[in-house]
Amino acid sequence: MSRWSFVGRTDELNRLLSAVTGAEGRGLFFSGDAGIGKSRLLREGVTALPRDGYAVWSIAASATTAALPFGGLIQVLPTEQPHGLSPAGILRWAVDVLQQQAAGRRIVLAVDDAHLLDPPSAALVHLVARADNATVVGTLRDGEQLPLPIRALWTDDLVDHVELKPLAPADTTRLLSEILNGPVDATSADRLGRLSEGNPLLLRELVFAVDREELTRTYGVWKWTGRLDLAPNLADLIDIRIGQLTSGVRGVVELVALGEPLGLHLLNQAADPVDVETAEERGLIAVEHDDRRTNVRLAHPLYGEVMRRRCPVSRTRRLQARLAELLELVGKRRRDDLLRVAVWRLDSGTAQDPALLLDAAGQAFARYDVPLATRLARAALDAGGGFDAAELLATILMFADRPDEAIEVLDAVSADIEGDRRLSRWLTVRGMVSYWGLSQESTVEEIAARRSTLRDSADQARVLAFEGIMRLHRLDTGLALRLGQTVLDRPAASVAARELARSTIAHLQAAQGQLHRSTTAINQVQAEAGRWRADMPYLQLALELARGTRLALAGDLAGIDAIVADEFADLAGAGDFRLGTGYLAILQAYAARLRGQSDAALRTSLGACAVLATSRVYAGLAQAERAQAAALRGDAAQAAEAMAEADRTHAPGMVVLYPWLEQARGAVLAAGGDVSGAVKHLTGLADRLRADGFAGHEVHVLHDLVRLGQATAELGPTCSDGSRRTVAQRLAELSERVDGVLPPLLARHARAAAGGSADDLLAVADGFEALELAVYAVEATAAALDRLRQQRSPAAAGPARERLAALLGRCDLIRTPALQAGCPALSEREWQVARLAADGVTSRVIAERLFLSARTVENHLQRIYGKLGVAGRAELRAALRAIPGHDGGESG
Ligand SMILES: Nc1ncnc2c1ncn2[C@@H]1O[C@H](COP(=O)(O)OP(=O)(O)OP(=O)(O)O)[C@@H](O)[C@H]1O
Ligand SMILES: [Mg+2]
Repeated sequence: MSRWSFVGRTDELNRLLSAVTGAEGRGLFFSGDAGIGKSRLLREGVTALPRDGYAVWSIAASATTAALPFGGLIQVLPTEQPHGLSPAGILRWAVDVLQQQAAGRRIVLAVDDAHLLDPPSAALVHLVARADNATVVGTLRDGEQLPLPIRALWTDDLVDHVELKPLAPADTTRLLSEILNGPVDATSADRLGRLSEGNPLLLRELVFAVDREELTRTYGVWKWTGRLDLAPNLADLIDIRIGQLTSGVRGVVELVALGEPLGLHLLNQAADPVDVETAEERGLIAVEHDDRRTNVRLAHPLYGEVMRRRCPVSRTRRLQARLAELLELVGKRRRDDLLRVAVWRLDSGTAQDPALLLDAAGQAFARYDVPLATRLARAALDAGGGFDAAELLATILMFADRPDEAIEVLDAVSADIEGDRRLSRWLTVRGMVSYWGLSQESTVEEIAARRSTLRDSADQARVLAFEGIMRLHRLDTGLALRLGQTVLDRPAASVAARELARSTIAHLQAAQGQLHRSTTAINQVQAEAGRWRADMPYLQLALELARGTRLALAGDLAGIDAIVADEFADLAGAGDFRLGTGYLAILQAYAARLRGQSDAALRTSLGACAVLATSRVYAGLAQAERAQAAALRGDAAQAAEAMAEADRTHAPGMVVLYPWLEQARGAVLAAGGDVSGAVKHLTGLADRLRADGFAGHEVHVLHDLVRLGQATAELGPTCSDGSRRTVAQRLAELSERVDGVLPPLLARHARAAAGGSADDLLAVADGFEALELAVYAVEATAAALDRLRQQRSPAAAGPARERLAALLGRCDLIRTPALQAGCPALSEREWQVARLAADGVTSRVIAERLFLSARTVENHLQRIYGKLGVAGRAELRAALRAIPGHDGGESG
């Protein structure tokens, strides 16, 4: 509705323009009450933008588009979305599309009513906002719930915010003359302006509502003689106006309210074109053209809100069914039309075509809209969709953490299984739900037994691939490997079966320390993604687990960053793909922890625990990571509590993850002060890993023993020469068998800890620092410093101390046994004196402040120098900063 020229708002308009054209690169959002003028302002701003060098897209979210995945971006994205993409893949594809269309111009996304964006559209808007060459501007209505990715625009500092105020009285008067198409006498303008409280929409509805006889025009000047002390509320005014419409015009507004954006062509078939015109003239609907078609929207969202409220349920349903019918009749032109028809059919209770519903459910699932996909697949099944509908519904339910219902659905169609193909699909989906969803370990034997009845080689391979991964997860590694190999050897096996088998093997190889092979396999699975995703979307999880295990064991923190960024783990709200995003969060926490960012590690692992709370697959792993983060901070109580949760929630069917849990248990014991218990536990764990052939894990556990001062401790079986290996020797041995740069470094650390010089330890610290493994670097440096202090070599200790302080300065709070061990212990009083002295306060003043004698202060200082191994005041500050947990700063 922009029949009246735009009044006022010059400052806001300028701010909007400079947000887009300025150098800052930050976008801008206007918020405010309904009808205050946000949308109009945004529209005016976008129109005023220079066209050269800018690719501008306007998006209007609405209550109807909110129900569809990517509904908010219906006008922006191409009709055809490529098949078989992950949630991250879809987002990346969409960003690429926009970048391509922008062709080097700066991207401007103008989002009206961003609070109504559906989750994937909101995620995409966030992603675009992050691009260097893009600016997002938009509006939000006050008091509405915001989608997470939109709220994150502020947290990530990508946009500014302006609260839109009411119009100034002079502007209200001008607007009034615009609305009435002529000047208004001052008193009337003042009274109406006050009543509207500077809200343009309210002003306009008031003018519509007042009694015509009380609004008169003399000599061209309007005068209002009516009486109103308090303006009716905006929604009531609209309600009254809509109530006065003829039934034809009201019908038009109703159809648009239920189906916007609607093609004009379609609307003209559903209603009398004369009524459509009238609705437009009255400013109830707006017709807009884009390059693809002419669309009709409501002129204002409040009309829709009022309309939907007053329309009886039976009538709403009738209208929705009518819309579905018409869209089917004029032909579904865009992929989204299929979803729209299906949703209207659902909502109107006329969902009878199982093929349509199944197709739509598949589409919703492909966009990871789990709730909508569930509704559609359920409807498809109810409409007689049979086996295929049951298979899809069960798969979706599994992802929604509703395994019991999934089993019910599958068992209900067990009588319909005819032929090998169906049996193999039924066995695998049911097996997946029962094994991972319900933790029923006997599933493996059940599907193995029924597998043998299949005659077709491809059908058998599918079941074999599933059996293989289950065997791995319950630690039957030999058999898992054989089954995986069998699948790969079968030419008839489908791509999905083959790549599932390959992921299983890749995971096993990572645990065994064959990281190179694992990488090759994972890359291959990834390269085939387009060919397996539609058939077996959950293969993504097996791939992620294999890849995550490999990166974590390789200590490849940059690699972890890359996949976290790649999969947009922080846009978790976009889909309901919890297992995927939850697992990535665990990896993210792991990387933060090894970098010494213990705040982020704790926060992120807590997030992972929350996301994964209802799933049995990774809940224990997430809790174990939280236990590790807490232990790193020396928070023994939280560490123990998280470990107990890990034990309570860990699924027996995921026993393959035991190395992570047991390693965490070692850290928890040590954090609680039971270092000998921790050593005993980790020694046992190292034995178990050796027996299981998990060399990739074993090196990390051995290194934990080194960190606890056990480099020279013996472990493992007696060798042929009659002796047992030390931790350092075993690490040296493994460093030749386990791939990557980390194992040799860990082995060097063990050697240096066992009897090397301070320089050896410092060199190891360099190696850790280069890999961003800050915690290990800190510990090695602290050990070197301790050694130098004992050797009384202050000249060498100085630089080491500086380094330790610098390293600690880059970490959050870390308090590990290794740091504690070599750390000089100052008494409370000594701390007070040392801090003041480090700040340059003279001994005399220190004495006065602490009510001590100058002599006592001197005595304290000498003792402090001795403990810290420094020569005097000059080195004090650095020495204090090198003590973990104390920044040595002014206030300390
Ligand atoms: N500065 C202005 N000059 C002229 N007309 C205006 C101005 N601001 C708003 N209007 C008109 O007032 C009506 C309401 O404004 P608008 O639709 O922008 O409200 P809104 O703040 O977006 O409300 P909502 O939160 O419900 O979306 C529209 O018809 C609009 O054209
Ligand atoms: Mg608006």
